[in-house]
Amino acid sequence: MKDIIIIGAGALGEEIAWLIEEINDYRKEWNLLGFLDDYAFDKKDTVLGYKVLGKSTDIDAYPDAYFTIAYGSPNLRRKTVENINKESINWATLISPTVRVHHSNKIGKGVIIGRYTDLTINCEIDDFVMLNIHVVLGHKVKVGKYSIISPNVTVNGEGIIGEACQVGANSFIKNIVLGDNVTVGASSCVVKDVESDHVVVGVPAKIIKSGRPNKSISRDDQ
Ligand SMILES: CC(C)(COP(=O)(O)OP(=O)(O)OC[C@H]1O[C@@H](n2cnc3c(N)ncnc32)[C@H](O)[C@@H]1OP(=O)(O)O)[C@@H](O)C(=O)NCCC(=O)NCCS
Repeated sequence: MKDIIIIGAGALGEEIAWLIEEINDYRKEWNLLGFLDDYAFDKKDTVLGYKVLGKSTDIDAYPDAYFTIAYGSPNLRRKTVENINKESINWATLISPTVRVHHSNKIGKGVIIGRYTDLTINCEIDDFVMLNIHVVLGHKVKVGKYSIISPNVTVNGEGIIGEACQVGANSFIKNIVLGDNVTVGASSCVVKDVESDHVVVGVPAKIIKSGRPNKSISRDDQ
């Protein structure tokens, strides 16, 4: 079994721990050593019975381990990767055993794919993307680096999600283009392209905020 450490010891970290347990139930693959967390490392000793080992800068103490990022904000995911700034690090790609992945799909490093998510054909999922549970991606969908797609989102075939986007739960994205740093509110229906750095909500989705979104849609992030 390979050693693995989760960076981020909040609620999403707990969910990723469960994903790792789920993968192990299917095929013994990971030895979960515990968590690193830059914000909560001195506030809790254990999470779900796994140790909180220190901060992300302690990564060097585990040269053979794999790592996964459990921060629910694209910007924090990016910042964590950039701060660590090491080519040699082993980033785990974690895919629930309930997900069937056709060989035509391209899936990058550090990607997390939750239970019952469905990728069809020729999708491109870039590094450090998180597809939460029950996401449906049509053919040739592209999802850019660090983006987070929440539960029950559907993206039509050929839809393009830029880098560091956050798509809220239950939303529908037509075969359109979301630029980079776009936030889509929960239960929205996006039927037209959205340029970078906007927040859109509603049915059909309209812009409510512009400028780079600086707020995480996860309650868990700092
Ligand atoms: C879109 C979102 C990020 C906006 O958050 P915010 O910047 O704090 O915005 P506010 O709460 O100040 O809302 C601004 C306005 O947009 C409206 N609004 C916010 N989210 C909305 C949504 N999803 N659908 C429709 N309208 C929405 C608010 O009612 C408010 O309207 P008002 O100005 O008429 O009162 C947030 O509301 C959202 O939907 N987050 C997604 C949560 C989610 O799915 N998380 C995944 C967890 S796994």
